[in-house]
Amino acid sequence: MAQSEMKQEIRRLLDEHNGLLLAHNYQRDEIQEIADIGGDSLALAMAAAETDKDVIVFCGVHFMAESAAILAPEKTVLLPRLDAGCPMADMVTAEGLRELKQQHPDATVVTYVNSSAAVKAESDICCTSSNAVNVVNSLDAEEVLLVPDRNLGRYIADRTDKKCYFWEGYCPTHERLAVEDIEHAKKDHPDALFMAHPECPPAILEIADHICSTSGMYSYAAASPAKKFIVGTEMGILYRLRQENPDKEFILPTSKLICPNMKLTSLEDVLHCLQTLSPRVTVPEDISARAKATLDRMLAVPRD
Ligand code: 13P
Ligand code: SF4
Repeated sequence: MAQSEMKQEIRRLLDEHNGLLLAHNYQRDEIQEIADIGGDSLALAMAAAETDKDVIVFCGVHFMAESAAILAPEKTVLLPRLDAGCPMADMVTAEGLRELKQQHPDATVVTYVNSSAAVKAESDICCTSSNAVNVVNSLDAEEVLLVPDRNLGRYIADRTDKKCYFWEGYCPTHERLAVEDIEHAKKDHPDALFMAHPECPPAILEIADHICSTSGMYSYAAASPAKKFIVGTEMGILYRLRQENPDKEFILPTSKLICPNMKLTSLEDVLHCLQTLSPRVTVPEDISARAKATLDRMLAVPRD
């Protein structure tokens, strides 16, 4: 089937099943193009929590669909590729977190949404890259345990007075970005601003002009008078950046900025998933209730 036919059929099946298609900002261009809502982890979690649709097709990675299933337990949440995981989320287990909690019994556990439902269930509150500092500073706690991303953790630690402890996880995609990549890009484009995702290593964040979530990059690029931007995150973000800012130039400092898991989902997978209403993501009730409380606490923090 040609791409255009597949896209039409996907939209038709979404209508038939009263479905909503969510796509993370790192998804392939053709998936972002047909999505009802594109966004960062926070925006997509909120869309899942608020929708009145019956079926949510989540084009992203497993933890995102799990969060949708937790926030909207009465909905059918589909993940077109069950094997689309997040290596960072897999770096922490509920058992490992329980052990670390014993070492820091007074610390409030702040867990990045890039984590399994079981880990969320062991945590006090969630955060995403767009609200992390706000969430931590909203807490009535002197000590926090930041899980699982050490880079996001250190980024938060620089912006709070609280004592921070870290889980030493990281995103393999953002970790591949080297200071030399940025130096080369800056040499070739001296007038470009460098925007970076907080999952980048500290040495990269130190030389960034702006640090923000994926969706934060859209607003920053649109509002800035600058005409050129070096982009420190996964390449999928370029699709909308270029579409929404045709007069501006976006430079990827290295072709290594690609998340293989985010790129797994194809139009064929989305079509198949709507034809079969599978694979479905569900979370066992005991875990779901505790993980939901953790996510709900995050959603209740006023946005800055
Ligand atoms: P955002 O919350 O910025 O969308 O990031 C999610 C993610 O997986 C980044 O690697
Ligand atoms: Fe996980 Fe990194 Fe891929 Fe985001 S980019 S889904 S953190 S591996």
